[in-house]
Amino acid sequence: MKYRHSFHAGNFADVHKHVTLLALIAALQRKDKGFLYLETHAGRGLYDLHGADTHQGAEARLGIGALEAARCDSPQVRAYLDALARARGNANAPGAYAGSPVLAALSLRTQDRGVCCEIQAAECRALERALNIYPRMRAECIDGYRALNAQLPPPERRALVLIDPPYEEQADDLQRAGEAIGTALTRLANAVVALWYPIKDDRDLAPWLARMAAQLKAPALIAELWLHPRDARVGLNGSGLLIANPPYQLDAELAQWLPQLGAALGATRQGGTQVKWIAHEQH
Ligand SMILES: C[S@@+](CC[C@H](N)C(=O)[O-])C[C@H]1O[C@@H](n2cnc3c(N)ncnc32)[C@H](O)[C@@H]1O
Repeated sequence: MKYRHSFHAGNFADVHKHVTLLALIAALQRKDKGFLYLETHAGRGLYDLHGADTHQGAEARLGIGALEAARCDSPQVRAYLDALARARGNANAPGAYAGSPVLAALSLRTQDRGVCCEIQAAECRALERALNIYPRMRAECIDGYRALNAQLPPPERRALVLIDPPYEEQADDLQRAGEAIGTALTRLANAVVALWYPIKDDRDLAPWLARMAAQLKAPALIAELWLHPRDARVGLNGSGLLIANPPYQLDAELAQWLPQLGAALGATRQGGTQVKWIAHEQH
């Protein structure tokens, strides 16, 4: 495996994924009962946007850099920026950018807990170091797909699962990640499952989404943000999240803040955003 998330840390797709993740956690925390946060593809947890690993944050300039400059005042964006600042302070590194495991770790209450899986040994060692100060979150150096069977259902009977594969082989990863949603929902029918996917070529994506819509046994929506026209031939045009069992009223909230986030990241020029139910719409 060649994938290194460091190159992409803090880019527009990370921003979209991470703001949405924190909004999902906040929605689950409207109930007192604790839940398991399970992340199948965790990465190293902390990235240095001043370092060579991230090319001095080259991609982040059009992601978190653009967002900070835009002064977007939606509460969801503010919560994300606050969490990033706390993570930077905790890491005591001005260039630190928090990945999803650290952002989630910062948000967990005493009744919540988390498990983050990473398959590459060196990345996982770094993840363990990044999570060391967060007692509610544990790193596991294993195949995250296998963790679904091991961790679900949790004793809490509530779970938020984030599936964020590297998509080195787009079709294979889409297929495998789609099956993983099915596994998670078979193990725990009420699990909230969020799967990140890249928007590159609609000719691959549309049939996959149609298959997911036909297969899914739970309500599901997609929340997408893209920067260029949908048929543009760019490396990564957009960022999508398929969310199964979305929390109550998440669709209405997304419809409010996602366009604001898109505008801050430059999606209004030629791109766009959408929130769309693909299966068993809830009212
Ligand atoms: C997109 S990155 C994760 C980024 C992270 N979720 C975030 O937002 O900060 C994907 C990671 O998954 C890891 N990975 C790939 N296949 C895996 C598997 N089967 N199980 C666990 N980790 C895997 C890669 O090494 C890489 O670090």
